[in-house]
Amino acid sequence: MIVTLSQAVEQILSGEPVAIPTETVYGLAASLFHPDAIQKTFRIKGRPADNPLIVHISDLQMLEHIADNIPDEVAQLARNFWPGALTLVLPKNSKVPDHATAGLDTVAVRMPAHPLALQLISVTGPLTAPSANRSGKPSPTSAQHVLDDFKGLVPVLDGGICSIGLESTVLDLSQKPFTILRPGMIGVAELRQVLKCDVTMPHNHKVVRLANETETDFENKDEKDEKQKIDKHGIDKLRKSPGTRYKHYAPLARVLWASSESYRTHHSRVLVIRHLAQTKFGTEIHTYDQGHVYSFHGDYEQFATQLYELFRRADREGYQTILIEPFPEPITNPVCLALKNRIEHAISQDSNLPETLS
Ligand code: TXA
Ligand code: MG
Repeated sequence: MIVTLSQAVEQILSGEPVAIPTETVYGLAASLFHPDAIQKTFRIKGRPADNPLIVHISDLQMLEHIADNIPDEVAQLARNFWPGALTLVLPKNSKVPDHATAGLDTVAVRMPAHPLALQLISVTGPLTAPSANRSGKPSPTSAQHVLDDFKGLVPVLDGGICSIGLESTVLDLSQKPFTILRPGMIGVAELRQVLKCDVTMPHNHKVVRLANETETDFENKDEKDEKQKIDKHGIDKLRKSPGTRYKHYAPLARVLWASSESYRTHHSRVLVIRHLAQTKFGTEIHTYDQGHVYSFHGDYEQFATQLYELFRRADREGYQTILIEPFPEPITNPVCLALKNRIEHAISQDSNLPETLS
């Protein structure tokens, strides 16, 4: 059901979750100080209780009741990036309910850049909001996606299509060196430039997965190699961010990396995503006997706004496979890194087939 802003306020204040628009993806919002409502969001999503939530604020004063020992760098980051797609992990204030942070002693906070979200929060106060999808599925980038996922049972404040389309960058400021726990549109270079200090970026955010993982999967025995040391540090940090340990963003269709022409020999119904050199801009869609090919002309921002819609479209239209052309390496564009991260999380793990077709 679609609701108005004042109905959304009413719902939140009476302890009911409401899906809200942000510039990244839709969030399933509940009042931070309404523990039952927060628990409902976990139940509705089918989200594991050990995966903490992001608290959304509309002004900096709200931060004082949420975080403690706020580092000086926060003011600088807020000036440059808030409202915006940057989530900061900070030491938690004791007023924040433990199940919002899954028992961690830190809390993740962000000020979203969407006028409806800001207006809502300025009336209701801080809101927890995980992405408003069923746990493990692609995030919703439109009100319709939320209605589809929850069969219309969750009230949705419709704020249009999300302008970014990928989740925020999560930056851990609770210890040094500062570390990116989830890559997003705001990249490591931009953060280093504003902070004028080192910010680490684990080399392989995909590391973390899954059902059959063991403790030793995280150990890195070769301490001599500097890159591996950085990785190990990053991986230790990622273990602090439980959300990165689960399979995510996955449609029902199998997702695979595949070189540009291999799709022609693929036999199941296939959705192909290509991104061509920067010769021209825009999206091109063409059909062939096995399915559809989407071509993005080097415009990663545009690709980001459509990735989850393409994943969802593949499921709606019964495609068995989504083939995505690998990005040219080395990747420096932060949107491209974030896209790669989400795609790798979505790649099916439950098959004996190779993950990459060439
Ligand atoms: O763009 C976004 O961030 C969207 C919109 C709705 O704001 N929200 C979102 O929430 O993506 P969610 O719950 O789907 O992802 C939050 C991520 C998870 O990976 C979670 O583990 C991590 O942030 N996280 C939350 N609190 C944390 C904490 N205290 N320490 C480390 N990681 C944390
Ligand atoms: Mg999510």
